[in-house]
Amino acid sequence: MTNLSDYLNSLNTEKELAEIIKLIANQAEPIRAAFIQNQNYSDSKNSSGEVQAEMDTWSDIHITDALAKSGLVREVASEERDEITVLNKSAKYSVVMDPLDGSSLIKVNLCVGTIVGIYEGGVMQAGKNLKAAFYMLYGPMTTLTISLGKGVCIFAHDSNGVYQMLKENVKMPEGNLYGSGGLKTEWLEKHKKFIAQIEGEGAKNRYSGSFVADFHQILNYGGVYAYPPSEKSPKGKLRLVFEVNPIGFLANQAGGAVSNGVSNTLEIVPEKVHQRTVVYVGSKGMIDKIEKIN
Ligand code: AHG
Ligand code: MN
Ligand code: MN
Repeated sequence: MTNLSDYLNSLNTEKELAEIIKLIANQAEPIRAAFIQNQNYSDSKNSSGEVQAEMDTWSDIHITDALAKSGLVREVASEERDEITVLNKSAKYSVVMDPLDGSSLIKVNLCVGTIVGIYEGGVMQAGKNLKAAFYMLYGPMTTLTISLGKGVCIFAHDSNGVYQMLKENVKMPEGNLYGSGGLKTEWLEKHKKFIAQIEGEGAKNRYSGSFVADFHQILNYGGVYAYPPSEKSPKGKLRLVFEVNPIGFLANQAGGAVSNGVSNTLEIVPEKVHQRTVVYVGSKGMIDKIEKIN
């Protein structure tokens, strides 16, 4: 069986990059173990104005501390931190992360995860420049879905907490599942047309409220995840740097695509670390369809 270290070696991954990946991937165990003690939602809000769950801040502090101690990371940009945190100015790589995605589902024990992207240099770069992107999912299994720009692989924790390869060279099929965020009554015309079109072609609705888990389903079965614009939130809800770029990079590496409904979000150079973007991510055919609607 190929484990995560074997895989990173097989790609001749640079030592520092491999170390950062393994260091973050290894936080899945302590994060999983922390859920039971951190079930509450605090009074504090993050930079996007969202209520923070105890697990949001716990995971953020836990991962950032591990990265700080390692000395391997230049900057960290996290959904739970107002500003970019500079850790070691002379380090080569920087990390973007959503330490806990899907946090409204913590108290109902549905699947949530940690989303990570790694850049050479600073964090304010277009998603297409990512050197690695991955996410851990805390579902029935602890899994790690990763790309270093050479396809996508899925690993799962064995009983010793070692990531063993579950699926190699993952290709996103042209499936027919969809999940869309936002209030249906607030959907704009273009999004309404898109959903009506794909439903008319047999698409089936499956949406949990955890981007990372909903995307994992789309990655494996095919279809589209969308968080559309509304009058109130013309850029939707999800954040370009921490959520959409790493997931979009993985989609792209699996033969799928990511778009804001008009063009590829991996081309956008972020202006603000917490900026939002409309997102459609999934099978290539689905992304072509939304981009064709005016
Ligand atoms: P986070 O928990 O990191 O704040 O992200 C929540 C996001 C995403 O995971 C999910 O798809 C979306 O918000 C759900 O929003 P709705 O509840 O509006 O559907
Ligand atoms: Mn999130
Ligand atoms: Mn989050």
